[in-house]
Amino acid sequence: MEITKNSTQDEIKMAAKALKDGHLVAFPTETVYGLGADATNEKAVSRIYSTKGRPADHPLIVHISSIDKLGKWAVGIPEYALKLANKFWPGPLTLILKRSDLAKDFITGGQDSVGVRVPAHPIAISLLSEFEELFGHGVVAPSANKFGAVSPTNSKDVYKEIGNKLLSNDIILNGGNCEIGLESTIIDCTTHLPMILRPGAITYEMIENLLVTSVRLSNFNKTRVSGNFISHYAPTAEVVISESTFDGEGFLALANISTPINAVRLSSPSTLEDYAKELYVAFRKADEQKLLRIVVVLPEGGGLAEAIRDRVIKATGKPSN
Ligand code: TXA
Ligand code: MG
Repeated sequence: MEITKNSTQDEIKMAAKALKDGHLVAFPTETVYGLGADATNEKAVSRIYSTKGRPADHPLIVHISSIDKLGKWAVGIPEYALKLANKFWPGPLTLILKRSDLAKDFITGGQDSVGVRVPAHPIAISLLSEFEELFGHGVVAPSANKFGAVSPTNSKDVYKEIGNKLLSNDIILNGGNCEIGLESTIIDCTTHLPMILRPGAITYEMIENLLVTSVRLSNFNKTRVSGNFISHYAPTAEVVISESTFDGEGFLALANISTPINAVRLSSPSTLEDYAKELYVAFRKADEQKLLRIVVVLPEGGGLAEAIRDRVIKATGKPSN
């Protein structure tokens, strides 16, 4: 296992070859770091599950280099899904579509659908293009953390999460800090109307404006989208949503909210974009400082605030309704 410093084109090429040879490659995307494997190699994919400790019936997202490759993985793609892909790819959007024969049970968890995304990070695109040059079809990549834990947003955190489980031929690519810091928006496109399964940086408003239809967050599908397990994206410290803290507890809120006396300020984001980008970093910081509780003041309103609230609520381990 090797961590490369700001991965070069040669290192990306080597990583594409490693994927083709059945090894695992962790790589940066604009959302969070993914743990990648050849989506057609059952043995390699099974290592993703064992490395993460993830239940085997839990589907993975296939990453491709461009929309041109979508037809390999999905069939019967509705018009509105193509519209979304054309508008938001490359970008933080995953579409759940009817699967093609290429998408086997070992990546879809036995479901008839498949999740597909074109990420926007230049290293991710380059890795996927190089992999496709070697006749690879797609790379499955869940977030590169232990199941239920906080997604890593830099290569050091990938190493801390799963480094001890990786083997000598596996690779961690380095592409700095993730621009967005929260996982992609997931939209179920298997029925005549889109449904958001996981909110993200592609917001309800952006989707509704494009499709001129209203979309809502699914409150079922609880078993299949791992983020819908009750405790997820969770640090070791207990996460509570509040405004007041006790001595020595971590505190996270927008910059205009002042720090309660004796609280440990974990971050002071001044925009929603910064809040999203710093949320998981703040969770990790609290664990590094061995804080027992993190008190979070949720941002209000629509847009990215929905995704931030979703992740914080999941991290509290308590259902949102
Ligand atoms: O931003 C992201 O999406 C990151 C980066 C690495 O691309 N990936 C990511 O993967 O967050 P993961 O596996 O941690 O979360 C993907 C979610 C899972 O909760 C999974 O259950 C859901 O997508 N998913 C994948 N395929 C699905 C399907 N066919 N139907 C329903 N949910 C699906
Ligand atoms: Mg994940």
